[in-house]
Amino acid sequence: MTPLVVGNWKMQMPNLSAVTTARRIAQTLPPLPDREVAVAPPFTSLGPVAQALEGSPVLLAGQDLFWEDEGPYTGEISGAMLREAGARYVLVGHSERRHVLGETDQMVSLKAQAALRASLRPIVCVGERQDERVAGRHEAIVGEMLLRSLAGVAVEAASDIVVGYEPVWAIGTGFAATGADAAEMHACIRDRLRTLFGAKAADIRILYGGSVTEQNIDDLMSRHDIDGALVGGASLQAPSFVRIASFQRSPSSTSRGGGGVRG
Ligand code: PGA
Repeated sequence: MTPLVVGNWKMQMPNLSAVTTARRIAQTLPPLPDREVAVAPPFTSLGPVAQALEGSPVLLAGQDLFWEDEGPYTGEISGAMLREAGARYVLVGHSERRHVLGETDQMVSLKAQAALRASLRPIVCVGERQDERVAGRHEAIVGEMLLRSLAGVAVEAASDIVVGYEPVWAIGTGFAATGADAAEMHACIRDRLRTLFGAKAADIRILYGGSVTEQNIDDLMSRHDIDGALVGGASLQAPSFVRIASFQRSPSSTSRGGGGVRG
């Protein structure tokens, strides 16, 4: 399984900083043939960032898309438009979209299907709130969220989807899940994916997101079933993102199974 590290710049980078940061990442990222690295700039910077990344292996991701392919939907962006701008991945159902903008699991599932129709790999985000974890309901909540958010995704498309586990209480707070807690949830997510996709669940990358830093990335990535990271705040500076993308797994984790690099 090829690990994937995605920097989510949210609504935080004006075009000039986005281009400068992308250029710095492209210039300083060491060759990492065993993993994929992507950045998700705001829509208006997709084109300029694509240019800045030309010739580098860093991929482009959209932060969101609409579920229809075309039409009179003011303010929305289609999968084909993202693809045209150079994106290969797209975030779907990020917690800020769910909690600030009211996106439902049903919308998320429509968006995931729209991404696949446009040959984009959706990174479908799920995660529990703090009160749900305190009440011990996190596994049930995330499991149900996942089943509903992936409804309608065909088994044949399973290896093209990516799941982002992002506990809401860890996003932008500086309080990341511990490696052990994250790994426990990832194993639970893998189980749920098996009920949807059978053996193909083993090919689906599950990323951890929520206060990922240079300090915790190596531990997180050494855990079973953690196949990559979604990085917010720490992706805004090229040096910290490059360090995170250059994570090193501890030797005990090298027996992980999985397929080859996906192109
Ligand atoms: P954070 O954000 O790394 O700033 O916690 C993660 C995310 O929202 O994807």
